[in-house]
Parts: sequence; structure tokens; C-alpha cells
Amino acid sequence: MHLIPDRGFTHPVPSEITPRDLALNRRQWLAAAGATALALPAAAQVARPGRLAALPGAKSAVPGAATVEKLTSYGDVSSYNNFYEFGTDKSDPARTAHTLKTRPWTVSVEGAVAKPGRFDIDTLMKMAPMEERIYRLRCVEGWSMVIPWVGWSLAELIKRVEPTGNAKFVEFVTLADRAQMPGLRSSVLDWPYLEGLRMDEAMHPLTMLAFGLYGEVMPNQNGAPVRLVVPWKYGFKSGKSLVAIRFVEKQPRTSWERAAPEEYGFYSNVNPKVDHPRWSQASERRIGDDGGLFAKRRPTLMFNGYEPQIGQLYAGMDLKKFF
Ligand code: MTE
Repeated sequence: MHLIPDRGFTHPVPSEITPRDLALNRRQWLAAAGATALALPAAAQVARPGRLAALPGAKSAVPGAATVEKLTSYGDVSSYNNFYEFGTDKSDPARTAHTLKTRPWTVSVEGAVAKPGRFDIDTLMKMAPMEERIYRLRCVEGWSMVIPWVGWSLAELIKRVEPTGNAKFVEFVTLADRAQMPGLRSSVLDWPYLEGLRMDEAMHPLTMLAFGLYGEVMPNQNGAPVRLVVPWKYGFKSGKSLVAIRFVEKQPRTSWERAAPEEYGFYSNVNPKVDHPRWSQASERRIGDDGGLFAKRRPTLMFNGYEPQIGQLYAGMDLKKFF
């Protein structure tokens, strides 16, 4: 099972089996962190899991932002990644994303807003108080994680730039620089990786701009220095390494829609009742569960478990048609 669209040729399917370097990383990390850290529920209590600069966040008051499930280990979160700009194997980004230069970095806010601007990343980070949000991340491929992100609601930025009446959708543009990103040599997707949300989805308090995880700045492979996180949608809606946020009137055509429109819709809400054309979405494998590939799969929850918070956004919509 893989995100890569089947274009009539046999694509090398990256192995679902834990790659060797991932297993090694995990063992090294376990040794460094001490096994006790794993049992602790909140990221704040896990002493320095990686080696990046500290980026603490206060406990979030946003409803739904504090899942009390066991966290996926820092080792797994930072070594089992989808970031096609750095390769299509899960282990590629952790190995190759060190070439990503995260300073200087700006995020341009454009389109239908009264106050457009180009924000320096360090200024942007200070725009709102950092919060820790523990979210489930469900990848369209059928695996999931529980990640303690650090950041704040995208709505904070949106309110400041004052969208006009023409702003119906938000388009998220991510970095596409061949000099830094070896994966751009492949034409698996149209670069830059482009995603989008409807305005009310973008304004929802659960939708966040994340600058870090596990109390530290974002590892490059997870989308440094800033990425989107939309917890009730499949992971691919959460664009990494954002360089522009555009307010537009028409529904954006996202990279995945362009690559395989019958497989990846604009909405892409997690929905166990709407299968991907090539596989079921009814259950998921939680990364790090004992038993690895053979661990019992968990049932996938409607809207990834965030239905109480966001269900009303889709009242009356045919979710099979708008998948
Ligand atoms: N963003 C960019 N720019 N490029 C990508 O390939 N992959 C997406 C999403 N954001 C991707 C991206 C997919 S498919 C998933 S599941 C998540 O990032 C994975 O995030 P993680 O590696 O931090 O778990």
C-alpha cells in the first residue's frame, strides 16, 4: 500500500517492514532517552528526546488538543516520514533532510487579504503563544501516530492579515528547491507540493501551524521550520516547510489531486467508511505498537476522532462524493 499513484507501471513500493536504519535509530534513541521516558504521557515530561533547540509550549486549551493516548516515540516520529522532496522511502527524509536550510526563511501571506506580508520565521514564531497539542496523525496509507506538536492555531495568523470577502479557500505552498531537496529530481508529484483548505477549515482552532514537536524545534524531516497540521484529515493535507499561504476564491488544485484525482480528493477527511480505491480505510496500524507489522490494527475513527469538534463543518455534505 502506498501513496504513489499507479501510473500503469510497477512502482517500487517502499517496504512496510521497518527499515534497518530506522530500527537502529530507535535502539540508539532508546538507549539515550532511557526506557522510562517512553511510559510518560506528556511531552513536557520527556527530557530532551532529540538534540534540537528547546521549544516548549503551554498546555493547549483548544478542545480536542490533548489526546490522552500513548505518544509515538520521538525516534519513530522523526525517522518514519513522508516528505517526498527528500525521497519516497519512509527512511529517506531522516537521512537526507539535513540539507534543508531553515534560516533565513520567510512565509509569504498573499492574495485576498487586507494586510498581505512576508513574515520572517522568527517574527512569525512570536506572533502567538506556543502551545503543545497532542494530535493523532492518520496517514492515508493506513498507519498512524500520536504526536505532541508545538505551535498555535493558524486562525491567529489569518485574523491578523484580514481576509477579504473573496477569500474562500487557503492554498499552502511548500518549498521546492532542487539545490536542497534531492527528491525534486523525481516527477512523482508536481512541485511545489501544494495543499489547500476551505476557509472555515483553515479558521478552525484545531488547525495549527506547527514549529516543533516533543518540546523542541521541528526536525527537518518533519517539515521545519513551519508546517501545517490538520488532525482530522489524512496526513498529506498537512504540508511541510511552508513558504506561502495564499487566500483565494477558487478551490485550489492540490498536488495529490493532480497526480491521482480519483484517489485523493480535496477534502480528504479521515473516514473509515470511504475506502481508498486501492485499499480499505477501516483500520490503521499505530506505529510503535508491540508486534510491529503484525500488531493488531485499530479501527479508524470518523474524522480521526475529532468529530465532536469539527463534524459540523460538513453537515449535509455527501462525504463519499466530496472525499
Ligand atoms: N509535505 C510535503 N511538503 N511533502 C510531502 O511529501 N507528505 C505528507 C505530509 N506533508 C508531505 C508533506 C504526508 S503523506 C504525511 S502522512 C505527512 O506529511 C507526514 O508527516 P510526518 O512525516 O511528520 O509524520
